[in-house]
Amino acid sequence: MDQISRARELQAYCDSVRAEGGVIGLVPTMGALHEGHMRLIKVAKQECDLVVVSVFVNALQFDNLQDLEKYPRTLEADLAFLRSAGVDLVFTPSSQEIHPEPILFHLEVDRLSELLEGASRPGHFGGVVTVVAKLFTITGRCRAYFGEKDFQQLAIVSRMVEEIHFPIEIVPVPIVRDERGLALSSRNMRLDPEQLVAALALSRSLFLGRDAIAAGENDPGAIETLMSQELVREIDGVAKSNHAVLDYALVVDPRTLIRPKRIEGPVRLLVAAKVGGVRLIDNIGA
Ligand code: PAJ
Repeated sequence: MDQISRARELQAYCDSVRAEGGVIGLVPTMGALHEGHMRLIKVAKQECDLVVVSVFVNALQFDNLQDLEKYPRTLEADLAFLRSAGVDLVFTPSSQEIHPEPILFHLEVDRLSELLEGASRPGHFGGVVTVVAKLFTITGRCRAYFGEKDFQQLAIVSRMVEEIHFPIEIVPVPIVRDERGLALSSRNMRLDPEQLVAALALSRSLFLGRDAIAAGENDPGAIETLMSQELVREIDGVAKSNHAVLDYALVVDPRTLIRPKRIEGPVRLLVAAKVGGVRLIDNIGA
């Protein structure tokens, strides 16, 4: 596995692969890799000639300095993980390489960034699209793999590619869960065993909502109440001492992320809660 830290070097490498007709797969990550990331890599390996995984903790997308400082950094383990996954190339740039100081340019997202995660984390999606756009211009024409775990991020990045005409094909990858239903996340590393049990309420509430829609419920408000009740019940019980807080439990249109008046076609159920100070998100299609 090759490791590159300079943008120009990665650009040249990708150009040479494309010149020989190779298809490049890009998997952007912030490290602390787990089986969720692995799924993206596996799909990319099946579809591409060269798989590039970027590992970069992007300070621009953290609205809270504490959250940035606490974000797990496990580069040595990540490199071993990527080697075992058969990744061709890992891109591990420094912060100065990606965001040379002083920073004068920054992308912003209208509308879609004000909802859901954006409402709770001001500036988050501006930071995400800024770094993702830079990764796209460094890598160049490629297929880029994003998890449905971060559903709003996937919707925003897909729209950015369409609107800015990046020569990139976005490939969505379904959420990987553990055997109890918990969506895998680098943030789960910060939960103690009791908080891990409380965190199961997120996926349980989504499964309840999905089943109610399958049984014929078409009122988004009723589904949201059902999901919030399940979350609040858990939060009031197991996790009270750990300061768990429900943020939102919503039914939205999968493309616009706006809440429909009635459930008439496919919808996405999204939940967010803080468990023991760690912000967790999850979602499901219905
Ligand atoms: P990170 O949280 O490291 O996630 C990298 C990619 O892995 C994202 O596309 C995310 O949706 C996907 N992923 C994480 N957990 C998953 C799971 N359980 N199942 C399926 N996919 C999963 O998302 C980011 O990093 C950053 O915002 C980034 C796009 C790299 C920009 O900095």
